[in-house]
Parts: sequence; C-alpha cells; structure tokens
Amino acid sequence: KYLICNNLIIWKVLALLDECNSNPLGLQPIDFIPAVPQRLTDERNDKEISVVIAASDERLGGAIAAMNSIYHNTKSNVVFYIVTLNDTVDHLRLWLSNTALKNLRYRILDFDPRVLEGKVQVDPQKADPLKPLTFARFYLPSLVPHAEKAIYVDDDVVVQDDILELYNTPLKPGHAAAFSDDCDSTTNKVAVRGAGNQYNYIGFLDYKKETIRKLAMKANTCSFNPGVFVANLTEWKLQNITKQLEKWMTLNVAEELYSRTLAGSITTPPLLIVFYKQHSSIDPMWNVRHLGSSAGKRYSPQFVKAAKLLHWNGHFKPWGRTASYAEVWEKWYVPDPTGKFSLIRRHSEAYEAK
Ligand SMILES: *[C@@H]1O[C@H](CO)[C@@H](O)[C@H](O)[C@H]1NC(C)=O
Ligand SMILES: *[C@@H]1O[C@H](CO)[C@@H](O)[C@H](O)[C@H]1NC(C)=O
Ligand SMILES: *[C@@H]1O[C@H](CO)[C@@H](O)[C@H](O)[C@H]1NC(C)=O
Repeated sequence: KYLICNNLIIWKVLALLDECNSNPLGLQPIDFIPAVPQRLTDERNDKEISVVIAASDERLGGAIAAMNSIYHNTKSNVVFYIVTLNDTVDHLRLWLSNTALKNLRYRILDFDPRVLEGKVQVDPQKADPLKPLTFARFYLPSLVPHAEKAIYVDDDVVVQDDILELYNTPLKPGHAAAFSDDCDSTTNKVAVRGAGNQYNYIGFLDYKKETIRKLAMKANTCSFNPGVFVANLTEWKLQNITKQLEKWMTLNVAEELYSRTLAGSITTPPLLIVFYKQHSSIDPMWNVRHLGSSAGKRYSPQFVKAAKLLHWNGHFKPWGRTASYAEVWEKWYVPDPTGKFSLIRRHSEAYEAK
C-alpha cells in the first residue's frame, strides 16, 4: 500500500498515517489564504507557480524578505509553501496577516523532524544544533503533491526580477532538477578559509572512503549550490530521488562520507551524489551567491543591481550585525508585528521608532 501511495520510505516511518490522501511527513496544510481580492487574481496569470521555502523561527525575517521580494516582482500567481516547525506556525501566521504581506497566497506546512531519525548524526559535542528544516527540500513532492514543477529557495535570498523566468528554466528530459554550478563563473568560486576548494566534489565528499570511490565520480567535477533550484516533480518521483537522498544520509551516519572540512551545508553532499551529471543548469544570475561568505563586498554595486537573485549564503546574514549589501536586502524586509524578531544593527536607534 505504501508503494502505491507514494514511493517515499517515510511512509514506513510514519505508518500512523493510514490514508493515501493524507500527507506523509505529518505535513499538515494549516493555512491557505485564497482571499486575494478578485481584481488582483484577475491581473495575475492563472497558472500556479509553486515556491517552496523553509522558515525557521530564529531567522524568520529572512523568509519574510524573500517572499516579499518574489511577490512584488511578479505578476504570476505565486503560491508559497512555507515549511516550518510546529512551534513557529502561530508567529508566522501573525507576521503574514498583520502586515503588507496579507495578500500573499501561501500554505504553511508543518515539518515533523522525526522523519530524519537515523538519517542525520546527532552529535551532542557539536555546538550547532541540527537544523531539520534544511532537509525539507529533499521531500519536495510531498510538500507540493499537486505540482509538476516547483521552485525551492533558501530563506537568505532576495529576488530582483520576475520569478516566472526562473520557473521557466528548461529541464532536459530525464533531469529532475536544475541547479547553478559552482564554477559557472569565477565570481562563484570561493575558497572557504581552512576548508580548501568548495566548488568541486572533493570539497564535499571524502574520497578516501571506499563507498565514495566506488561511485567513480570525478573529484574535480564542479559542485552546485542547492539553495535555489527548479524541480520536475514528475521526474523526481519516477527516479525516487527522495529515497535515494535518504539512502545517502543513512550511509553517511554509518560511514561518514562527507568531507571532514565541509564548510557548506550538510544537505549538499547527498544532492551532489544523486544528481551527479544528472541535472540541468539555471542562469547564474538567478543565484548570485556568497554575499554572506565575508563581511566585505565581493561584487560591484552594478553587478548586485543586475543580479536576478541575491543569495547571502555563508555566516554573514543580512539580518545580522555585519553583512555586505544589507541595505539591498532590507528594502524587502517587513518588520515583525510581534516584535520577536528584530534586525541586529549597529545603529539600532534607527529601528526603534517602528
Ligand atoms: C511539536 O511537535 C513535537 C514533536 O513532534 C511535539 O512534542 C510538540 O508537542 C509539538 N508542539 C506543539 C506546540 O504542537
Ligand atoms: C517532467 O518530467 C516528465 C517525465 O519525464 C516529462 O514527461 C515532462 O514533460 C517534464 N515536464 C517538464 C515541465 O519539464
Ligand atoms: C522507484 O521505486 C519503485 C517502487 O519502489 C520501483 O518500482 C522503481 O523501479 C524505482 N525506480 C527507480 C528508477 O529506481
């Protein structure tokens, strides 16, 4: 029965769900706000553009700015699928309904971290707690079960052009996703301090391990950034991508297959394996990244202006104390009506008035 419903192995984990129609993962659509004024819906093209974003409480302002920028730069009928943990739902709902964002169409999906049991190493020594929502992207077909195509974006981006263009990225037959390669331009190559080259496979995977060597993947292959991608969910399901990703997560727990100097996200290595030479490309301007890799400015203002999507991956987030081009990001930020989230700024007085 599980297999008929859905190929995801999580059906076994959460066997409490006994209906094919119910969502796996304990993902419950909590909110759906179709109450957009008629005039607006008419202006906007009918075809739904599904955009999936993960929103964790401690950086909720990021997801807010990302959604605001996407919404304001398109005439398309964008619907956001916001994946979050159950204790963030109320906060998020207040933020979205009491501000300029109230016309946004969205659905809040509650991610049950138990899905990850046995698939991620829980190391009590590590200061960094596990961030379960970073794995939400592995489960795309269960998040937007009706969609054939969907976009996934991280919460540390802003979009400066029409997301429809990204959505229309062509995917080659047999490809389940399109990513932007890390060596598609010199600006995207970045040497992470103490971690060597993080733009090819050897920067992410431990090539000393037999299991990795047996895959015969060239170590100098360009890696790609999984923070922004377009997916063909029909193809994703056909190839059981989710199940493949879970297999590599589980294997990593047993064999530690990721590079020990891994500086990027731990969601990257399984994606690199599963999509090795099996993905299409997105326009590099749709993922201008590393704005958060250092506090300094790595791009000219002209280049930043021309970018279609800006991505503050790295430690220096635009809602934090120091970040490059934080003012560009802040144009899209909508203050939290509950006051729980606030920007950390050197001149905090400037923000107190609000
Ligand atoms: C959230 O989920 C966890 C585990 O799934 C549960 O223990 C907790 O009670 C839930 N919290 C709320 C506020 O629903
Ligand atoms: C998605 O993949 C399916 C199966 O390969 C294919 O039939 C369909 O045309 C693809 N759709 C898009 C939008 O690329
Ligand atoms: C995907 O899983 C289904 C059911 O487990 C199986 O029949 C099918 O062969 C798998 N497809 C691939 C490409 O592994």
